[in-house]
Amino acid sequence: MFNTFMSAKSTERVNQQLFLKRVPTGIAGPDDFEVREARIPALKEGELLIESHYLGVDAALRLIIRDSDEFLFRVKPGDLVHGSFAGRVVESRNLNYSPGDHVLGSLGIQRFAISNGEGLERCDINQAPLDAWLGGFGVSGLTAYFSILEECRPQPGQTVLINGAAGAVGCIAGQLCKMAGAKTIGLTGSTEKCGWLVDELGYDLAINYKDDDWFEQLERAAPERLDVIFDNVGGELLNQSLKLIGMRGIALLCGSTSQYAAEEMQGPSNYIWLGTMRARLQGFVIFDYAHRYGEARTKMANWIRDGRLKLPSWTREGDISDFPAVFQQLYEGKNLGKALIKLPSAD
Ligand SMILES: NC(=O)c1ccc[n+]([C@@H]2O[C@H](COP(=O)([O-])OP(=O)(O)OC[C@H]3O[C@@H](n4cnc5c(N)ncnc54)[C@H](OP(=O)(O)O)[C@@H]3O)[C@@H](O)[C@H]2O)c1
Repeated sequence: MFNTFMSAKSTERVNQQLFLKRVPTGIAGPDDFEVREARIPALKEGELLIESHYLGVDAALRLIIRDSDEFLFRVKPGDLVHGSFAGRVVESRNLNYSPGDHVLGSLGIQRFAISNGEGLERCDINQAPLDAWLGGFGVSGLTAYFSILEECRPQPGQTVLINGAAGAVGCIAGQLCKMAGAKTIGLTGSTEKCGWLVDELGYDLAINYKDDDWFEQLERAAPERLDVIFDNVGGELLNQSLKLIGMRGIALLCGSTSQYAAEEMQGPSNYIWLGTMRARLQGFVIFDYAHRYGEARTKMANWIRDGRLKLPSWTREGDISDFPAVFQQLYEGKNLGKALIKLPSAD
């Protein structure tokens, strides 16, 4: 079997790929990466060629390009940069996929990827548009869905604090907490983003953590303490917030963005409040729920249809070479919702 979607065969196409040039210090920037071009080899039996339309820009990339083997994955200098993309099958020698199929996978920051089908997800673009499959309808939204609804389980009348609230996970998490009837407070890095959280996503209140008195503002906003701290960023925001954890509350560690680029990672010194308040600090990894993604997406699709759930994305039009600058902007807090790059092939 050999199907081609467009006129050119794989061997006539040129791939553009992003490689890590060196281990970054501080926020990674354009000088830490390099773009290379390569001819695409002919497909072997069982393989398919996918052309990327959207690239996900994920905060966790900064963690895996550290000079350390301690974490789940590692990208070393000279390696293809790890990342997710959503695109379309353009050629197939795999019986399960045909040209024109939309798929999603951890296929790296490149224009084309060859896959044997392992780890790929099909994207039903009638359920949600392709770009959403990398954001609110993809890992970010599913992370919010399962961590909030299965682990944190906010109740009507409770108070939830979400840091990284305007990011890809936080913006969905906040909407789910509101649906559950909880008072929802967001922490983010600008007045404009605070306004967006309240006006567009229905957060009850949002606080700019760059204000000198952000913690006093939080104390006033949560007089009955915090039943849930949903932690995307770690560092001082988590540390200070722990002083307000409520009786039998939960601080859920979803991510630690503030620590990924830190020379030495800092843990929370205010952990003592967990003991006093019989509260718990709990980890979370979305892959534990992989067998339930379909169920979550069916519910989310209904909420989107009813207008109860929005899937915000911050999409930059560009190419492989634009990825490092957009990644830097993510760490500068420019994004509202999921950061994505839309490649010329998406048009
Ligand atoms: N556990 C899991 O299975 C799982 C799955 C997906 C993602 N995650 C993690 O969840 C976290 C959020 O991911 P995301 O995709 O939603 O990223 P994101 O929030 O869309 O992007 C990063 C945001 O973090 C904030 N930020 C950057 N540096 C910061 C700092 N030093 N202190 C405080 N805030 C900072 C910025 O917003 P401000 O303007 O607010 O500063 C920025 O917009 C990440 O740590 C990610 O690794 C975990």
